[in-house]
Amino acid sequence: MKILEELQEAVAFLRERIGEPPQVAAVLGSGLGDAFLSKVNVESRLPYRKIPHFPASSVVGHAGELGWGESQGIRYCALLGRVHLYEGLPLQRIVFAVRTMALWGVHNFIITNAAGAINRDFSPGDLMLITDHINLQGDNPLAGDNEKELGPRFPDMSCAYDKGLRRMAAESARELGLQFRQGVYVALRGPSYETPAEIRMCEAIGADAVGMSTVPEVIALNHMKRRVMGISCLTNMAAGILDQPLIHDEVLQVTQKAQDDFSQLIVRIIGKLGADWILRRDAKTQR
Ligand code: HPA
Repeated sequence: MKILEELQEAVAFLRERIGEPPQVAAVLGSGLGDAFLSKVNVESRLPYRKIPHFPASSVVGHAGELGWGESQGIRYCALLGRVHLYEGLPLQRIVFAVRTMALWGVHNFIITNAAGAINRDFSPGDLMLITDHINLQGDNPLAGDNEKELGPRFPDMSCAYDKGLRRMAAESARELGLQFRQGVYVALRGPSYETPAEIRMCEAIGADAVGMSTVPEVIALNHMKRRVMGISCLTNMAAGILDQPLIHDEVLQVTQKAQDDFSQLIVRIIGKLGADWILRRDAKTQR
């Protein structure tokens, strides 16, 4: 079956089960889902395995559930958990869930992740608004035949993280008094953490934070001309910056500590989205 037909089946299922598409979708990375859902009205939750063709994640901390409901008059859905390239699936599968949301009719996306801080001014526990990215995954979700129904062969990526949404995120963080950074996210394939030499390379090419996700989803959503905001929870200093090893459990622990700030921020952003004209417009905010 072609990917487009699979997407259409998943969308038909969601239309039947949930109805109209929400106004915003949030992808919540490692350990961020529960704190968010505790702050919003949750209508229901559904494991990914019940949704046609949705891939389920095998990683600890990535539950694999779709939650939806309403917050401040805005209907949202939350993708709790995602699949990663390092799990061995093709990128078309990695982006399947966000593509389904977009095809269903969602126009605004908040993509979150856990990342290592490369920029030495940043600290574990800080939140970083992604201003741009560098794809070092050695792959692209648009490789192969282009699905014209989804988007163009050569999509523009010159403003991949929507300016209007970025402004809204920065404003929300300021109002909440959160330590809020901005910077460039570089995605590597993983699953091994980087070597100090790799981190020095990432620093030299202009990256502020490093992770193993987000970039495929952001490419697929730009292909579909959706508005994207990206936020990283900086869980650790990247390899070699401090004289200590990186341990996944510690990454999860810092996420746990930061998740309250993080989810508060996302709820605030959703409120702003509702209040803003931006929801009534389908076009991307131009630089
Ligand atoms: N590197 C890659 N991915 C990560 C890191 C890191 O240091 N921390 C959290 N996710």
